[in-house]
Amino acid sequence: MSTQGRFITLEGVDGAGKSTHLGFVADWLRQQGREVVVTREPGGTPLGETLRELLLHREMDADTELLLMFAARRQHLAELILPALARGAWVVSDRFTDASYAYQCGGRGIAAERIAALEAWVQRGFAPDLTLLFDVPPEVAEARRSAARTADRFEREADSFFNRVRNAYLDRARAEPARIHVLDARQSIEALRTEIGQLLQGLA
Ligand code: TYD
Repeated sequence: MSTQGRFITLEGVDGAGKSTHLGFVADWLRQQGREVVVTREPGGTPLGETLRELLLHREMDADTELLLMFAARRQHLAELILPALARGAWVVSDRFTDASYAYQCGGRGIAAERIAALEAWVQRGFAPDLTLLFDVPPEVAEARRSAARTADRFEREADSFFNRVRNAYLDRARAEPARIHVLDARQSIEALRTEIGQLLQGLA
């Protein structure tokens, strides 16, 4: 068995409920005896968390937003993700580059080629081993968002923005079915856990 760890990402529109399942994924892997590092984007490092504060709360140009996402991502890879994988840990991240395609391309309308160029520069071919995409219809996500705490800059966007984000995520899942698994996040937490457990088993 390879000593290199695996990289798992969780994605979905705000309100899909992915954060609820992050701890379950980590616990499941730990029960298999893995060292697990749980992290998030934007963020995951001291610099990345500082950038997250700006990204979530300061108004900015869409290209600036995209560049800051990738600046945070480069630091995240260099400082945390790649070293953890190299020592054999499994890394579970709440969002990664699929979110840039969904939000900055789908949501904001930036050309996918620009994101692909940054992805090639920053990741040099690196990609998640498994991505869980939590998918819900827009009205369900909207109801969950409004029940949650104070909205950040993204969560204040219109329904049409989240429809585009969702569709961009689903397009990516269709293009990369071996990596991205779409989960119907309207199911009960228990049903989702069963499905997630099966996917993780397949990765072991
Ligand atoms: P989120 O992951 O939803 O955290 P929380 O559950 O604490 O609200 O918030 C991160 C926000 O950042 C989310 O609205 C999506 C956005 N985002 C992008 O627009 N592009 C990206 O590349 C990433 C990683 C996140």
